[in-house]
Amino acid sequence: MSLLGGLLFVVSALVVRGSSISTIEENYLKFPAGFLIGTATAAYQIEGAWNVSDKSENVWDRFTHEPRPGRIVNNDTGDVACDSYHKYKKDVELLREIGFDVYRLSLSWSRILPNGFANKISQDGLDYYKKVLAELEANGIEPLVTLYHWDHPQIIEDLGGWTNEEIVDYFGDYARVVFRELGPRVKYFCTINEPEEFCARGYGLGTKAPGKEIHGIGEYLCSHNVLKAHARAYHIYDKEFRPTQNGTIGIVLSLSYAYPKDPDDATSVETHFQFNAGWFCHPIFSASGDYPSLMKEKIASASLEQGYPRSRLPEFSQEWIEYIRGSSDFLGVNHYTSTLVEPGVESVVPSVFADRKIILSPDPSWPRANSSWLYVVPKGFGDLLRLLAKEYNNPVMYVTENGVSAAEETNDLNRIQYFHDYLKEMLLAMNRDGVNVKGYLAWSLLDNFEWTQGYSERFGLVHVDFNDPERKRTLKMSANWWKNVLKTRKLEPVPAGPQSSCCTAIPV
Ligand SMILES: *[C@@H]1O[C@H](CO)[C@@H](O)[C@H](O)[C@H]1NC(C)=O
Ligand SMILES: *[C@@H]1O[C@H](CO)[C@@H](O)[C@H](O)[C@H]1NC(C)=O
Ligand SMILES: *[C@@H]1O[C@H](CO)[C@@H](O)[C@H](O)[C@H]1NC(C)=O
Ligand SMILES: *[C@@H]1O[C@H](CO)[C@@H](O)[C@H](O)[C@H]1NC(C)=O
Repeated sequence: MSLLGGLLFVVSALVVRGSSISTIEENYLKFPAGFLIGTATAAYQIEGAWNVSDKSENVWDRFTHEPRPGRIVNNDTGDVACDSYHKYKKDVELLREIGFDVYRLSLSWSRILPNGFANKISQDGLDYYKKVLAELEANGIEPLVTLYHWDHPQIIEDLGGWTNEEIVDYFGDYARVVFRELGPRVKYFCTINEPEEFCARGYGLGTKAPGKEIHGIGEYLCSHNVLKAHARAYHIYDKEFRPTQNGTIGIVLSLSYAYPKDPDDATSVETHFQFNAGWFCHPIFSASGDYPSLMKEKIASASLEQGYPRSRLPEFSQEWIEYIRGSSDFLGVNHYTSTLVEPGVESVVPSVFADRKIILSPDPSWPRANSSWLYVVPKGFGDLLRLLAKEYNNPVMYVTENGVSAAEETNDLNRIQYFHDYLKEMLLAMNRDGVNVKGYLAWSLLDNFEWTQGYSERFGLVHVDFNDPERKRTLKMSANWWKNVLKTRKLEPVPAGPQSSCCTAIPV
């Protein structure tokens, strides 16, 4: 809040008779009726059982099974992970014990369609997810189901994966099978999780599956096909299933917030926003559709300078622009951290990172969590939500992921502090500023396979012992804090006690 805003706030608080600043703030810090609170996971990160029954190999199986030095910490794989394939009843018991309203899980494409294509549906694969959904229903927990969280069948990748436009049909076919078979039990669908991440790192830098280093071209082909495939799944749901299933469906994006290094540098902030959020939000949520013009211009001019005959960013036809525009009932926001921005060129040339012509860095005063990229900046969360509301006509939003990594411990007061401070910003954005957030999903229920960091970074509310064949699960202190929040439906204070490794200022 600005100084002036702060003064006006104090004055208005004082004129409310019998009231005080603290009671007004307290009213803001309650969850509105109907607000959904839950926690999230992803198939490859928790299920294990990578080769049971007729499940086929997916891109993360392949990526982790061909270890290269430095690719994945300790050469860890998701072969067993949390073994949730066998222990899903325990997971649901934990969800019920903590008291969550909703659970966001993702489906493994190669478990449901072992050939990649819809010519063969795995009965075992479907049965597994039917059992999970039945268990959730029996425990009064609403499922929020993500169709795709980074793990497409290897056969699809052999055909080019997200760089082959045919994936629009393949993904649509897969989505139709899921809606038909599982849709009767699901009211909330997410199509595709964090495309910026798997496009830029999976097909650009090559640091995530499928490990393709085609930066400057690969990430844009990927995003182009992701937007089409997302819209295809949306329209299939809208036309063929919504009339009977009456659910809601949207995309999930990884969004961060940027502050200028030089206070007058609004340009770098706008550039960061358009490349981070606008890349996928503008085609779907803006009134005009298509990629943001700032992005189109920057990539076209960099391409020209580099001697390419045309922009490395493909163009949509008017039909596709219309087909994609409006193809989401809600915006799923995954948010963890913020950054400082300044003009300059970073990363390899050409790439989506270099095309922006901005450099990202943390503010030295920001505490760092146990992931090298994760700085604790609660205010950035509120600022991001307000900016999204302003840019895209206040869409319905679900915070589909938010959380923090910490060292291996169960007395995770530092994680409670993170949730407390971030939730406070979200509640003020909603209850004071009118931002349309309808639900919040903490990342994550369990410590799990954290992609290239293997099992070395822990985001769980529940500790998992990865040395134990039984993968023993133990509630952390943060899970108990969530129990209270879910009982009172308001922000609960952080218990007193020492805070450890995470979220205390570590010099950068
Ligand atoms: C499945 O993979 C494991 C390694 O994770 C291996 O030990 C086992 O033999 C495989 N099972 C089958 C049926 O291929
Ligand atoms: C991971 O696998 C690579 C390739 O096989 C090997 O060179 C490296 O030593 C392994 N690292 C660890 C920590 O086991
Ligand atoms: C569909 O869902 C909306 C909101 O979730 C609800 O108000 C409406 O009654 C539902 N309609 C049917 C036909 O179930
Ligand atoms: C994360 O925690 C581990 C164990 O305490 C530590 O070795 C590592 O340096 C930490 N990483 C970061 C980025 O803080």
